[in-house]
Amino acid sequence: MTSLNFLLFSPTLLIIITLSSTPNFACASLKEANALLKWKASLEIPNNAFLSSWLLLPMNSNASFPCTSWFGIVCNADGSIRKLNLTSSGVKGTLHQFPFALLHGLTHFDLSVNNFFGPIPPEIRLLSKLIHLDFSENKFSGVIPPKIGNLNRLTVLYLFSNNISGSIPIELGNLNSLTDLQVAYNQLSGSIPSSLANLKNLHTLYLHENKLSGPIPIELGNLESLTHLAVSNNQLNGSIPSSLGNLGNLQWLMLKDNKLSGSIPTELGNLKSLTNLAVNRNLLIGSIPVSFGDLTSLNSLYMHQNQLSGPIPIQLVILKSLIDLKLNKNQLSGSIPPEFGNSTQLQRLDLSSNRLTGQIPKEFGKMKRMLNLSLADNQLSGIIPPEIGSFELIEVLDLSTNRLNGSLPISIGQWEHIHYLNLSNNKLGEKVPSEIGKLVQLTKLDLSQNFLSDVIPSEVQGLQSLQKLDLSHNRLSGSIPNAFTRLPHGIDINLSYNELSGPVPQSPNFVNASIEGNPGVCGNITGVKLCANQMIKKKNNPFHHGVILVIIFPLIGAAVLLGLFTYGHIAYRQQKKRSPHKPLDEESRDYFSITSFDGGVVYDDILKATDDFDEAYSIGTGGYGTVYKAEIQPNNVVAVKKLHSSSENVDQNGFLNEVRTLTNIRHRNIVKLYGYCSHPRHSFLIYEYLEKGSLGSILRIDDLAKELDWLKRVNIVKVVANGLAYMHHDCSPPIIHRDISIANILLDSDYEAHISDFGTSKLLKLDSSNWTAIAGTYGYIAPELAYTMVATEKCDVYSFGIVALEVIMGKHPGELPTLSADYLVLGNVGDSRIPHPSPQVEKQVDLVLSLSRACLNSNPNGRPTMRQVSNLLMKDLL
Ligand SMILES: *[C@@H]1O[C@H](CO)[C@@H](O)[C@H](O)[C@H]1NC(C)=O
Ligand SMILES: *[C@@H]1O[C@H](CO)[C@@H](O)[C@H](O)[C@H]1NC(C)=O
Ligand SMILES: *[C@@H]1O[C@H](CO)[C@@H](O)[C@H](O)[C@H]1NC(C)=O
Ligand SMILES: *[C@@H]1O[C@H](CO)[C@@H](O)[C@H](O)[C@H]1NC(C)=O
Ligand SMILES: *[C@@H]1O[C@H](CO)[C@@H](O)[C@H](O)[C@H]1NC(C)=O
Ligand SMILES: *[C@@H]1O[C@H](CO)[C@@H](O)[C@H](O)[C@H]1NC(C)=O
Ligand SMILES: *[C@@H]1O[C@H](CO)[C@@H](O)[C@H](O)[C@H]1NC(C)=O
Ligand SMILES: *[C@@H]1O[C@H](CO)[C@@H](O)[C@H](O)[C@H]1NC(C)=O
Ligand SMILES: *[C@@H]1O[C@H](CO)[C@@H](O)[C@H](O)[C@H]1NC(C)=O
Ligand SMILES: *[C@@H]1O[C@H](CO)[C@@H](O)[C@H](O)[C@H]1NC(C)=O
Repeated sequence: MTSLNFLLFSPTLLIIITLSSTPNFACASLKEANALLKWKASLEIPNNAFLSSWLLLPMNSNASFPCTSWFGIVCNADGSIRKLNLTSSGVKGTLHQFPFALLHGLTHFDLSVNNFFGPIPPEIRLLSKLIHLDFSENKFSGVIPPKIGNLNRLTVLYLFSNNISGSIPIELGNLNSLTDLQVAYNQLSGSIPSSLANLKNLHTLYLHENKLSGPIPIELGNLESLTHLAVSNNQLNGSIPSSLGNLGNLQWLMLKDNKLSGSIPTELGNLKSLTNLAVNRNLLIGSIPVSFGDLTSLNSLYMHQNQLSGPIPIQLVILKSLIDLKLNKNQLSGSIPPEFGNSTQLQRLDLSSNRLTGQIPKEFGKMKRMLNLSLADNQLSGIIPPEIGSFELIEVLDLSTNRLNGSLPISIGQWEHIHYLNLSNNKLGEKVPSEIGKLVQLTKLDLSQNFLSDVIPSEVQGLQSLQKLDLSHNRLSGSIPNAFTRLPHGIDINLSYNELSGPVPQSPNFVNASIEGNPGVCGNITGVKLCANQMIKKKNNPFHHGVILVIIFPLIGAAVLLGLFTYGHIAYRQQKKRSPHKPLDEESRDYFSITSFDGGVVYDDILKATDDFDEAYSIGTGGYGTVYKAEIQPNNVVAVKKLHSSSENVDQNGFLNEVRTLTNIRHRNIVKLYGYCSHPRHSFLIYEYLEKGSLGSILRIDDLAKELDWLKRVNIVKVVANGLAYMHHDCSPPIIHRDISIANILLDSDYEAHISDFGTSKLLKLDSSNWTAIAGTYGYIAPELAYTMVATEKCDVYSFGIVALEVIMGKHPGELPTLSADYLVLGNVGDSRIPHPSPQVEKQVDLVLSLSRACLNSNPNGRPTMRQVSNLLMKDLL
């Protein structure tokens, strides 16, 4: 490029041009042009630069060429160059060859945003007409030539963002016309010359991001025109001169990131025009001046990271214009003024890391525009006021490291924009409200180090933007919800140190999750014991090695088992104490770890309570085993279903997960499965015990059947429908019973029905291999199962239809493909053992009959869902 220029601009060619063009003024401009071309030749210019227009063509007869066709050049009428503007041209080079002497007419000189380097030559003083000098955003080094002080027409001097060192020349104080002095972002050192105070026209003085030291000259208080003053990010020391309070036009005052000490002068309260004040990160002491309440234009006030003490003045808090207030990392004390509620424009408030006490004022809820609020690391106590739920726009909320107690208000569910919520390290208790799931924008949630208890709500699956979740160091219990598997992948999850139990859900999110310190949790991840079924996989048939116990306590009830296990636990520990040297069998220790209770003790107690499964305690025999009544403690009875020995061939894969799922089901009308116990000799399931036994056994015996009047029967049907609807439609994934029959419907002392054996057939995989092993009871099995071999909810619907008919008829309906609607009414089929009901009840019985007929449709798709059945029964029977 440069060599090409050389060719074109050889003196010979220039002479030709000069000869062929006549005007007088051309001489001046031509000389300048020639000199500029020499300078150009010293520069590195990108190929596509505008500067390619800087050339002289032999055929060009226009004498005033630089003025007309050169990029970035504007001339005077006499052809002399007035403005030279090469901003953002990608040029690299120095000013060594720049023709300062020739371009003395220059008023505007703009080389900003290029790659100029080297010093600014002192010859710059020759550009005596300069008004506007902009060398900003280059790589100029060396010093600011003091002679710049001669350019007394200068109004704008921009040298910012270079590599200029040395001190600010005192001579700059001579630039009487200067309105704008910006030398920020350099390496300037030394002190700020007080001579700058002479610059009476100065609006903007930017000295920030240098290495200036010493004090802020008191004299700067004379710069009455000043609107913007920034000396931040230097090493200035001494105190803030109170004279700055004279700068009545000041809008920006940036003193941050220095070593300023002493207290903040009250006089700053006079700066009525101030919109932005930053004194943060200094060594300031004393209190926040009450006079700041007069800064009525203030939008942002940064005083953080000093050593300020005393209270937050109410006067400051009620400033209507305030948008951004940062007082964090000081030593402020007292309580948070409720008057913040009047700061309705406030969008960012950081009071963190102070010594604030008292409560979070409920008036905070009035700060409707709040986006970012941090009160972290204080000594705040009391509850999180539910009123703050009305923050409509909140994005960031940090209340961590305080002494807040009470529960998380459910009003937090209203924060639809929040993406950071940190309540860590408080004393918050009770459960995590399910409303948390509404925070769909949340990326970071930290509730660690509190006293949160109860289960993690499955609604966490609503947190679809989550990246980090920390619930560590709480008292959360129950299993880790499967809902976690529905969260996006790549979340950093920490559930350490809780009281969680059960298997870790299968999700990539848990591969690197932190779950240590939850003795009841198992899974194939670091810090957690393998689950029993994983052990099983490893060791093939551990059922012959030890005892497996899986128990998940229902919230209420099961006092029996709780008492039993607590007792067992203590006994176990005492036993351990007594024989401290007895080496624990490695394998069995792993099995025990599932619950941290000793399965062996439970096993022994049940054996004792049933006299080693004596016939005398048997209360029935089902498809998979015999059921025993076990009174473990006085008045505390459970039903124990001892599995047939053939059941030991169960497919172990996922077995315990299944048990856990079933133990977690809580529905009034579903018999609770408390747990599962396996021992080389016996395996059994432990259930809730129901006094009146099965519906089947009652219907079989006339005396008992007579007790079951029409209303009770209708209610039984209704309740069974309701329980099935719950399992089919409210559980995820839906749970199919597979074996609904009158033998599996148990009645309590009030004749209220409870469905038993939910999912047991799947649990025991009795339907997986061949026709004869299809789950279900003959006479209740949906016809399609014979050829599809796939159990669906609609199979349950069919079985339910049979059961409903049977309850009304008092006996199994037998083969019934042709039950016409007309025939199927109480008058024709009703149990004759009980007297005819009132017309009102008769209507209900007939409804049950017609619904059961619909359920028996041979086309599964033609059958209603259990939800529909349940809704119809509810609607009509209430
Ligand atoms: C000379 O300059 C005039 C005015 O700028 C322009 O119109 C004309 O085309 C130029 N002549 C040549 C030969 O470039
Ligand atoms: C230089 O040109 C740029 C854009 O073309 C303009 O924004 C800037 O104000 C000019 N500089 C001067 C000193 O006129
Ligand atoms: C800045 O200037 C100093 C000398 O004053 C030099 O050592 C340094 O490399 C320069 N830095 C840059 C980024 O040009
Ligand atoms: C300011 O710093 C200088 C050294 O840079 C030191 O000599 C002077 O005593 C300091 N002044 C104050 C008030 O701290
Ligand atoms: C705060 O605002 C309320 C009305 O919203 C007003 O009554 C009260 O006087 C205000 N307080 C202050 C200190 O301005
Ligand atoms: C919110 O405030 C915190 C603390 O002052 C700050 O670190 C963070 O950058 C702020 N976030 C936004 C979005 O303003
Ligand atoms: C929450 O705050 C605590 C302390 O105040 C901090 O250690 C933790 O990193 C914060 N959590 C997140 C997710 O930023
Ligand atoms: C919260 O703590 C305060 C004391 O700071 C106490 O008076 C109050 O009873 C506590 N509230 C709850 C719900 O624990
Ligand atoms: C999880 O939290 C615990 C306790 O707070 C901590 O020790 C551990 O480092 C955290 N793990 C991760 C991965 O953040
Ligand atoms: C545990 O996980 C690792 C890697 O994900 C896998 O290779 C290993 O087979 C797993 N172990 C068991 C017992 O599932």
